[in-house]
Amino acid sequence: MKNLVIFASGNGSNAQNIIEYFNSNSSTASSAKVVRVICNRTNAYVLERAAKLGVPTSVITKEDLSGGPQGILEILEKDSTDLIILAGYLLKIPDEVIAGYKGRIINIHPSLLPAYGGKGMYGNRVHEAVIAAGERVSGITIHLVDENYDSGKILFQAECPLLENDTPETLAGRIHKLEHTHFPHIIEEYIKDYLP
Ligand code: GRF
Repeated sequence: MKNLVIFASGNGSNAQNIIEYFNSNSSTASSAKVVRVICNRTNAYVLERAAKLGVPTSVITKEDLSGGPQGILEILEKDSTDLIILAGYLLKIPDEVIAGYKGRIINIHPSLLPAYGGKGMYGNRVHEAVIAAGERVSGITIHLVDENYDSGKILFQAECPLLENDTPETLAGRIHKLEHTHFPHIIEEYIKDYLP
């Protein structure tokens, strides 16, 4: 049984979806469990979602992090963390955490990387840029995390069309559906293939 820790900053629909997936009784999903959600904002909705599902939470703010990675590292160690999942987490992961969990941090990004990635490209900003550029397709990328933003090895991508009257919100809705469909399965496959 692998222990997953999810990092999230806001709404947390992906976090909830992943928690529920690995809580389900399916024999394939029972290979892992979400043991904690780490969030950088005290009022983020993801904290309520996790609490409702009985998953412990920790709030580690930007200020906490500026004091060094020790707090996060201790929590991860105490939870015997096998895999870290970034699901809408907006802060940079400290280099010490990336080094300590090499090949064991997975992020989801709401565009077809390398397009529309990098520092400052998150949430609706991504969708605004995709629409402004007149793209015909967008999609999601699930990738390993390395020291730079959005540049680790790509594990999976899926596309969706852009429609004529799309707004950042309508596109975000379509992207979220793709994320909810694929993210738990890609995590599960990664565990099977690389964390035996
Ligand atoms: C997702 O679109 C994810 O790709 C991005 O942030 C969003 C988080 O959504 N990194 P939610 O908080 O899981 O609803």
